[in-house]
Amino acid sequence: MDKVLFLKSFLRSPLQVASIIPSSPFIVNNIVRHVNKIKPAAVAELGAGTGVLTRALDGRCPDIQSLLVFENEQSLKSHLENEFSHLPVYADAFSLADALKEQGMEKLDCIISALPVSWFSQKQIEELMSMIYSHLHPGGSFIMFQFSLQMRKHLRQTFDDISIKFVPFNFLPAFVYYCKKSV
Ligand SMILES: C[S@@+](CC[C@H](N)C(=O)[O-])C[C@H]1O[C@@H](n2cnc3c(N)ncnc32)[C@H](O)[C@@H]1O
Repeated sequence: MDKVLFLKSFLRSPLQVASIIPSSPFIVNNIVRHVNKIKPAAVAELGAGTGVLTRALDGRCPDIQSLLVFENEQSLKSHLENEFSHLPVYADAFSLADALKEQGMEKLDCIISALPVSWFSQKQIEELMSMIYSHLHPGGSFIMFQFSLQMRKHLRQTFDDISIKFVPFNFLPAFVYYCKKSV
């Protein structure tokens, strides 16, 4: 079901959705292990797709108290709203500041992004990085997964502490970046 919905969304908006199937359990498990180690209470997920990671964050990460979900593609967003009716689901990830205001929150402990930054302009990438950094608590974590090492330089410029995990068992082998904002 997830796979069919994802493929249909990809065919409608290939550059926005940027993958033909949802992320594998290997990526999801890798991220869940890390999240359960850092124990964030307030989390945002940017580019949730069909919700493979949302489902795991919601069900398998007991320390998360607030999970804000962002998905720009309308049919995927509707699917998320149906399945996760107890979570706030927003459209554009770039509206993070407004969403936090609406939730009565200022900053987050962890932001996780699957956004297809390969298709973003330099200006959008800079805006995204600055938005993410400024909305993390000191000591907060940023997790990003991607099919390339394109973001390594940007992330090194923004965060002091970065580690990269290669996950080969995915439709396209992926890199998961784990970054920490200094305290
Ligand atoms: C590579 S997919 C990842 C989906 C899912 N997280 C997964 O791992 O299977 C990227 C997702 O980001 C969404 N997206 C792209 N630009 C966005 C934006 N500006 N705001 C919110 N979501 C966006 C796409 O619609 C797509 O669902």
